[in-house]
Amino acid sequence: MSRFPALLLLLPAAVFAAETDPATGLLKNPGWEQVRAHCGGCHSHALVTSQRADRSTWLDIIRWMQETQNLWQFQPEVESQILDYLAASYPPQPNRRRAPIPPGLMPKTTEPDI
Ligand code: HEC
Repeated sequence: MSRFPALLLLLPAAVFAAETDPATGLLKNPGWEQVRAHCGGCHSHALVTSQRADRSTWLDIIRWMQETQNLWQFQPEVESQILDYLAASYPPQPNRRRAPIPPGLMPKTTEPDI
């Protein structure tokens, strides 16, 4: 029997996985060079890649750094490229946290109720 069909099953993962830049860990989607240039000077790029947010929350994060952390201002088109990249590459993922543990399964507290 041919092994070809089994190999086909492996194809989609290889085709759709975005390439990762080994030096920064950034996904190589359009605009990634801007994020490499502007987002790794003060902290690791890992702080960027570990965050998940929609476009407006990414903008809030950038504004917060500009107001409190000396992040420089961007040309509007550069800022737009950065936001497009971040929103597309690191979008919100509601299932990143596990569901809360049901109270009945939590350890019994030894502290008296206050
Ligand atoms: C001028 C310095 C500087 C630059 C450049 C910079 N940041 Fe930051 N950023 C900070 C500081 C300071 C913190 C807080 C670090 C900490 O909490 O340890 C931070 C925190 C963050 C966080 C974590 C926010 C949180 O809520 O925990 C993210 C995400 C982030 N930066 C993304 C970016 C992105 C995206 C860029 C590029 C657009 C960028 N940073 C460029 C200074 C900078």
